[in-house]
Amino acid sequence: MFSTTLQLFILIAQLSFLVSAQQLARVLIYSATAEYRHDSIPTAIQALRERGPFINVQFDNTEDQNQFNDQILGQYDALLFLDNTGEVLGDSGKAALQKYLNLGGNFITVHSASDCLRNTTFYGEEVGAYFDYHPALQNATVDVIDASHPSTSMLPSQWHVQDEMYNFKSDPRSLGAVVLLSANESSYTDPGPRTYNQGTPHPTAWYQEHGAGAQGDNPGRSFYTSLGHLNETWQDDLFMAHITGGITWTLQSNTTKAYNSSGQVGSSPGGSSSSSASPKSSATSASVSSPNRADRTTASSPSFAWWMIIGTIAFQSL
Ligand SMILES: *[C@@H]1O[C@H](CO)[C@@H](O)[C@H](O)[C@H]1NC(C)=O
Ligand SMILES: *[C@@H]1O[C@H](CO)[C@@H](O)[C@H](O)[C@H]1NC(C)=O
Ligand SMILES: *[C@@H]1O[C@H](CO)[C@@H](O)[C@H](O)[C@H]1NC(C)=O
Ligand SMILES: *[C@@H]1O[C@H](CO)[C@@H](O)[C@H](O)[C@H]1NC(C)=O
Ligand SMILES: *[C@@H]1O[C@H](CO)[C@@H](O)[C@H](O)[C@H]1NC(C)=O
Ligand SMILES: *[C@@H]1O[C@H](CO)[C@@H](O)[C@H](O)[C@H]1NC(C)=O
Repeated sequence: MFSTTLQLFILIAQLSFLVSAQQLARVLIYSATAEYRHDSIPTAIQALRERGPFINVQFDNTEDQNQFNDQILGQYDALLFLDNTGEVLGDSGKAALQKYLNLGGNFITVHSASDCLRNTTFYGEEVGAYFDYHPALQNATVDVIDASHPSTSMLPSQWHVQDEMYNFKSDPRSLGAVVLLSANESSYTDPGPRTYNQGTPHPTAWYQEHGAGAQGDNPGRSFYTSLGHLNETWQDDLFMAHITGGITWTLQSNTTKAYNSSGQVGSSPGGSSSSSASPKSSATSASVSSPNRADRTTASSPSFAWWMIIGTIAFQSL
C-alpha cells in the first residue's frame, strides 16, 4: 500500500515535469511587404502552422504593422519575419520591435526578411546581414558547415536545393554569428557583380546566440536562413526540418516566459490565455489570425497523451 502511494507520487512528479517541459510557446509571423512580394507566403504560413503542434508552438500571423506595440509583441516568445521587403514598419513599430528585443525577445528571419528596413541599423544587426543581390533561381548545392545545430543535424552534408543563392552586404560573422550553411559557389552560376565582402565560406544560414540588435544584458537568440523562395521548398520535409529546428533552437534561449518564469515577454504558463486578458487586447488583435479551435486542441494534445499514459500506468499499479 505504501509503495503504491509512493509510486503515485513519483508519477505525479514526473508528470508535472513533462507538462512544464511542454509549455506551448507563441510565435508571431510577420509577412508584410512594401516592395517585391513572394507568392509562396501563404504556403509558408500554412506549412509553419501545420508543424506547430509537433514543436509545441502556436503560430499567429499578421501583416498589420499596428500590431507592433508593447502589449501585443509582449505576448510572443519569438517573432518570425517572413519574406518581408522594403519599409514594413513605421517609427513606432520599430521602437516596439527594439524594446521587444531588449526585453529578451527572440527573432527568426527567413529569405527576403534580410531585404527590409534597410536603414534600420538594429534590425540589420539582429538579422546578421542585409541582402545584396541574388543570381537567377537555379539548382545549387548548399554545404552544411556546422552539423551540430538543430537546424542542420538532419541535412545531407551536401544539400541539393532549388533556390536563390543570396549574397549579402556584410559578413554576419563580424557580429558574432555562427554560419551553418554555405552556398557552394562552384555548383551554380552567379554573374555578379560582387561589391561587398560577405566573408568565406559564403554565408547562407546562421545563428546568433545573442541577437546583435538587442540593447541591454538579456538578449534573446536570432536565427536566419536565406532559403525558402518557392512553394515547393515549403512542401519539402527536409527544408521544414531545417526551419523548425531553427525555430525550436531560437526559443530555447530561455529568455522568454515559455521557458523562463522571470521572462519579461512571451507566453505565460497557460499559453494563449494571456492574450484575451483585456477587451482592448481582443479588439486590437482582430487582425492577428490565430489558429482555430481545432488547431489549439491539437497543440495541447501531447500533454493530454502523457496524462493518458501515466493515468493508465498509475491505474495498473494500484
Ligand atoms: C504558390 O502557392 C500559392 C498559394 O499558396 C499560389 O497562389 C501561387 O500561384 C503558387 N505559385 C506558383 C509559382 O505556383
Ligand atoms: C535610406 O537611406 C538612403 C541613404 O541615406 C536614402 O536615400 C533612403 O531614402 C532611405 N530610405 C528610407 C526608407 O528611409
Ligand atoms: C533541380 O532540382 C529539382 C529538385 O529540387 C529537380 O526536380 C530538377 O530536375 C533539377 N533540375 C536540374 C536542371 O538539375
Ligand atoms: C561543390 O560543387 C561542385 C560542383 O557541383 C562539386 O564538384 C563539389 O564537390 C562541391 N563541393 C562541396 C564541398 O560541396
Ligand atoms: C534552456 O533550457 C534547456 C532546458 O533546461 C537547456 O537544455 C538549455 O541549455 C537552456 N539554454 C540556455 C541558452 O541556457
Ligand atoms: C530569465 O529571465 C530573467 C529576466 O529577464 C533574466 O534575467 C534571466 O537571465 C533569464 N534566464 C535565462 C536562462 O536566460
